[in-house]
Amino acid sequence: MDSIPANRRLWNRISGAYQRRHDPRIGAEPRLWGMYSLPDARLRALGDVTGKRVLELGCGAGQWSRSLAAEGAHVVGVDLSEAQLDAAVRARGADRYWLVQGAAERLPFAADSFDLVFCDFGGLSWAPPHLAVPQAARVLRRGGRLVFNVASPWFEACYDEAAGGVTTTLRQDYFGLGAVAEGDGAASYQLTYGDWVRVLRGAGLVIDDLIEPRPDPGTPNGYNRTEPTDWAHRWPAELLWVTHKP
Ligand SMILES: C[S@@+](CC[C@H](N)C(=O)[O-])C[C@H]1O[C@@H](n2cnc3c(N)ncnc32)[C@H](O)[C@@H]1O
Repeated sequence: MDSIPANRRLWNRISGAYQRRHDPRIGAEPRLWGMYSLPDARLRALGDVTGKRVLELGCGAGQWSRSLAAEGAHVVGVDLSEAQLDAAVRARGADRYWLVQGAAERLPFAADSFDLVFCDFGGLSWAPPHLAVPQAARVLRRGGRLVFNVASPWFEACYDEAAGGVTTTLRQDYFGLGAVAEGDGAASYQLTYGDWVRVLRGAGLVIDDLIEPRPDPGTPNGYNRTEPTDWAHRWPAELLWVTHKP
């Protein structure tokens, strides 16, 4: 399924409202992961990036890219949406990094170009993983790492479309996860645990860790309603994969 044109249209359309609502929280501090803004200092997924060649897949307004550039990484942010890239340009400030328009499905970079490829609900949530993961692996050097955060199958299976939030009732078939329709042909993507393992290993990557970010009770979800409010303290809402190319 080619969701590139529809996802580009979707993100161009919602970029302004999305950034007005979420940018203050995403960019509040450097290195905040996911729906609950958990600090990387606590999750320890990314490590030192000083002097490293880093690619953010689906960088949005570049909150992460900006932070890593400020730490001394050579960062490229790639995104499908020109509206999101415009937002990144406006927010770029003194910490320079490169911005490129492109799709995670067909990355416009040579093989072995990066030491670290990463994203937080970016290209690996919005491009078919069986296409995007091999692309990420291709542009990594040997020993380079692919680290990314996505929604968990638990979260997706318990998402109640009508109520607009997550509950304790299973709504979607676990084995039916795949392309999640986001309207007008746009799609996000969700795999089962087994399919993630097969896609990552199939691209030649070694899985070093699967971090399941666990917010403390009372930590707000910046994006979705959950019932109960401490849902993500009790069940994993996100999967933070840590892999490398041997
Ligand atoms: C939820 S944002 C992630 C960026 C940032 N971490 C954030 O939380 O706002 C998703 C981003 O993925 C981009 N995107 C969607 N489909 C893409 C694709 N196929 N390839 C690359 N980027 C894509 C969107 O334009 C959007 O900027």
